[in-house]
Amino acid sequence: MKNGEKISMLTAYDASFAGLIDAAGIDMVLVGDSLGMVLLGYNSTIPVTMEEMLHHCKAAGKGVKRAVLVGDMPFMSYQVTKSEAITNAGRFLKEAGCDAVKLEGGTEVCDTVKAIVKAGIPLMGHIGLTPQTASQLGGYKVQGRDADSARRLLQSARDLEAAGVFAIVLECIPAQLSEAITRMISIPTIGIGAGKHCDGQVLVTHDMLGMFEKFIPSFVKQFANLAPQIKEAVADYNEEVKNGNFPAEEHSFNMQLDVQSLFED
Ligand code: KIV
Repeated sequence: MKNGEKISMLTAYDASFAGLIDAAGIDMVLVGDSLGMVLLGYNSTIPVTMEEMLHHCKAAGKGVKRAVLVGDMPFMSYQVTKSEAITNAGRFLKEAGCDAVKLEGGTEVCDTVKAIVKAGIPLMGHIGLTPQTASQLGGYKVQGRDADSARRLLQSARDLEAAGVFAIVLECIPAQLSEAITRMISIPTIGIGAGKHCDGQVLVTHDMLGMFEKFIPSFVKQFANLAPQIKEAVADYNEEVKNGNFPAEEHSFNMQLDVQSLFED
């Protein structure tokens, strides 16, 4: 934020995680379309549907008491027509209880951005590595490394601000470029793999807790490494079920019940 305090944002896709994250004081909870890969087992975010997003936003919303809840518009929910984009963006607020929505893209999506904002829907932008169009960007790679692509990102940030977004996610771009963008625009930038100069930071919660082992981006700091702990706990449970050590007395309801009398009439 321009008063110097950084904005913290994490993803959550259900009520229990959203509740923990909210209680820990995080400013914004993002129901990202990353849920396609993290929760639903897809290989990319492309297959994620509006219905899946709304379902998880509703669940996450149940856990959030204080943080700003942002829903991610999935691929093809805002690209076809402006009117469809407004309708879909509105569903996040009306049906799923989100406070705001996010979509990917720069200058090329600004007409749609204007239409959504004009309809009264708070909107967050997302530029740099935009996973929905990663194949057009040469894969999951750092963006803005050469002068042309850096200039395009600067222009996109300017255009998105002018179009009315209230903040912009900068994903996987050089720290120097995100610093320049952050200085240039007056709305907050939220970085992911974009260095320390952004106004805020976002990570995928399952990455920073070490719960998603398929792929760990180099920009992720693991604040915990839960996958091995989860596997160990589950293996212990499995063993105790098999060997009869679980449940013990203290996990059972023992009552003065004359079971024999139940069989008599
Ligand atoms: O889908 C998502 O989780 C995101 C964040 C990585 C910013 O868009």
